[in-house]
Amino acid sequence: MRDAIRSLPGSRIREVANAGIGRADVLAFWFGESDEVTPEAVRAAAAQSLARGETFYAHNLGLAELREALASYTGELHPPVGVDRIAVTSSGVSALMLATQMLAGAGDDVVALVPVWPNLTAQPAILGARVTRVPLVPKDGVWTLDLERLLATVGPTTRMLLVNAPNNPTGWTLTRAQQQAILEHCRRTGTWILADEVYERIWFGDGPAAPSFLDLADERDRLIVVHSFSKSFLMTGWRLGWMVLPTGHLDAMGKLIEFNTSCAPVFVQRAGLAGLRDAATTVPALALRMKACRDRLVDGLQALPGVQVGRPLGGMYAFFRVPGRSDDSLAYAKHLVTGHGLGLAPGAAFGEEAEGWLRWCFASRDPARLDQGLARLAQALQL
Ligand SMILES: Cc1ncc(COP(=O)(O)O)c(C=O)c1O
Repeated sequence: MRDAIRSLPGSRIREVANAGIGRADVLAFWFGESDEVTPEAVRAAAAQSLARGETFYAHNLGLAELREALASYTGELHPPVGVDRIAVTSSGVSALMLATQMLAGAGDDVVALVPVWPNLTAQPAILGARVTRVPLVPKDGVWTLDLERLLATVGPTTRMLLVNAPNNPTGWTLTRAQQQAILEHCRRTGTWILADEVYERIWFGDGPAAPSFLDLADERDRLIVVHSFSKSFLMTGWRLGWMVLPTGHLDAMGKLIEFNTSCAPVFVQRAGLAGLRDAATTVPALALRMKACRDRLVDGLQALPGVQVGRPLGGMYAFFRVPGRSDDSLAYAKHLVTGHGLGLAPGAAFGEEAEGWLRWCFASRDPARLDQGLARLAQALQL
């Protein structure tokens, strides 16, 4: 086995979840998904596709009608994007891996803004690239970007910059001015930007979506933007995503998809198409429900003594710490599960920069669950 694989860390979120096995009363907020089931129209489209017998291989890049629908969906949020820049993938995480395979190989330098969902930094490491971590900086519970430090770290030898905003787990988002500065710098150094924008519609700021690199870049910039049906379409289990590539890169990506998954399943793509058809109503409605959940949870956390937490502008996580209690986040998360039936993700799962923090996914159909969780945390903090 290659060393890069042998040294892959196990999931610390799973480690906490395993500590709760056998406890039926655990309120689990540890995974990054809503407890809402996929909308009926989307499930029906998949069932109809299967009933029609759509059980065969499909085009590497995705169904033409899905790619066209994705191009119009993108064009409604950002400047127009041609279908010749869209590839459908079997999940967001697969899109990230494909983009990384296209851009960064053994010995290449990759810079990542962290803390971040661990898959983003594990993927280049699996391929043998060297990953340099640039930490976001917490100030009074809110995570901020040290732009100067980031730009000083990205140089002419940097192949790729990994940016996830809105960020999992911190809720940090990029401002338009920061995006502009990063894009201009990467143009100068010849660095690719791999932008993970899967949370762009779970956005509580102005406008329908978080600031995207697509708003600024032109079609020839070294930019790949990754998206997913998982979060804003409530489709985590379906494994469907897509990416926007620069002009001229689609054929190569098609070949790469052939050697990875060959294509996304047709009935899953039909489901995605149905999701896009209703997106104008379902996605903003979901963001509103999530906003109510965010406010309920953040208000509740801020009312607890000793808790430091910011109010995220995007994403579906409250990221908080309780100095003196949660300093060893893995141990404290295990304690919350076994002692109080509260399931949270330890900050350490997202890198050492997030040690001492805890992540709480607030995406819930039933906000009263958040109140129950808050009561359990309050009880834990009183002890
Ligand atoms: C930041 C980020 N990117 C990408 C993904 C991948 O989503 P999926 O593979 O379900 O499409 C996730 C899922 O949690 C995520 O948090």
